[in-house]
Amino acid sequence: MTNDRIIFFDTTLRDGEQSLTSSLSTEDKVQIATALENLGVDVIEAGFPVSSAEDFRSVREIGKALKSTVPCALARALPIDIESCVQAFQNVERFRVHTFLATSEIHVKSKLRTNWSNVLDRAKSAVKMARKWTDDIEFSCEDAGRTSLKNLVEIIEAVIKEGATTINLPDTVGYCTPEEFGAMFKFVVENTKGIHKVVLSTHCHNDLGLAVSNTLSGINFGARQVECTINGLGERSGNCSLEEVAAIMYTRKDKFPFKNNIKMEKIYKTSQLVSRICNIPIQPNKAVVGENSFSHSSGIHQDGILKDRSTYEILGPEVIGLPGHKMFMTPRSGKHVIQHQLKKLGHQESSYNLPKFYEQFSKLADKQGHVHDYDLEALFWLGHEGEEFYSLSDLTVSCGTNKISVAQVALKSCEHKYQTSASGLGPIDASFKAIKKVVNKNIVLSDYKITSKGKGCDSTGQVDISILFNGKTYFGKAIGEDIVEASCRSFIQAINNGHRDEKVQMKKIENEIKDRECFI
Ligand code: KIV
Ligand code: ZN
Repeated sequence: MTNDRIIFFDTTLRDGEQSLTSSLSTEDKVQIATALENLGVDVIEAGFPVSSAEDFRSVREIGKALKSTVPCALARALPIDIESCVQAFQNVERFRVHTFLATSEIHVKSKLRTNWSNVLDRAKSAVKMARKWTDDIEFSCEDAGRTSLKNLVEIIEAVIKEGATTINLPDTVGYCTPEEFGAMFKFVVENTKGIHKVVLSTHCHNDLGLAVSNTLSGINFGARQVECTINGLGERSGNCSLEEVAAIMYTRKDKFPFKNNIKMEKIYKTSQLVSRICNIPIQPNKAVVGENSFSHSSGIHQDGILKDRSTYEILGPEVIGLPGHKMFMTPRSGKHVIQHQLKKLGHQESSYNLPKFYEQFSKLADKQGHVHDYDLEALFWLGHEGEEFYSLSDLTVSCGTNKISVAQVALKSCEHKYQTSASGLGPIDASFKAIKKVVNKNIVLSDYKITSKGKGCDSTGQVDISILFNGKTYFGKAIGEDIVEASCRSFIQAINNGHRDEKVQMKKIENEIKDRECFI
């Protein structure tokens, strides 16, 4: 085993999956496992096959689907568990059995209700048994972080003698500080016979937000395998996040000069896939993969980034597979970023008056909070933010159990009133269909998000929508106690933005024709 390489062991499908409120289907798991393999993960913990027939099936299918990544399955230190892993991987050439047993005093006494010598015997027998079928055996000392160092050394020596090839020292409850966690590895490396024959591994939980720091500390004191999950999913506050460790190793090669197999440019896509399949949204300020990780809102930061990216960006978005950073145009954006954004949209400074334009921008930013490129274009070409094309004047819906939902919608546009009705899968679908009938354009709803503002029945809902209109994306946002009505208003706002942009495009064409005529 080379000492300059870190093995990435992903447990999204085991430790991550066991924390979800509803389990994933085999098909979902195979899709995630394939994405993890493409990401360059070395070992995938596919599940805990003895726990259910469905988990067994998933482990078996993942084992069959993987080509280069080593599939692994979890087993308690019990014959039935180990047999189940072996059966699941029956037709797989290379696989790992990961067997574990609690070693801390509290777990041995209160959970296992046994004594240390029995723990030692069980651990040895489990490894010995697994050795009959594979030479890739990982042994985990569950709750190693709270285990006496003397006991740790004793059990590790014993399982190495039986044939364990990877020794994992988990901070099962996320209790250790980085100093303590590193010291545990140092002690084990310096005092355990046979330790140089095996790979040492970290497995850190994030109860106190230290999972990544502890993992790095483990690496500093000899660990060469890191167990982690995508987006930090896992029991309670989660596990060490794979993308964070990979990004640290990429950004701070000076501190972590190790090779690894992770294809950084696949990180964002994998993170999005796992979030979508597991139905766990990523917090916007999550390190590396959060929506805001590469967005700059403050005027000072935006100005700095435009002058030199490295002022406020230590990791480029393109590294993790994102096309570029985002500049959020908000009330805090300064003149410099507006100028930059207008230039990107093709407008030279000589074609507008910056102070005057900025004044209009600021008013709109105060009103909307966030100004999109198409809003800037409307300000530029129409000289104002544009009037509403449609507004909702009436809405009636009927829906219920075993009933077809029907919506009657009345929209106002200039002096005209349009009334129509449509049926749909639910009240929102029916209402949107009715609105689309009036607007009579090819509109595709590309995103719909509803968030409750408050907890009680009287709380309001915020509806954020994006639509595709003439091949471009437009956004709408509305808040209300009636979520069907708020949905319609949000939808109409997005449509109005699309309509206004059509007007802007017409203006542009007129202008081009005028320019050409002048030239002739
Ligand atoms: O947290 C833990 O200790 C575990 C073991 C099963 C490795 O998940
Ligand atoms: Zn765990």
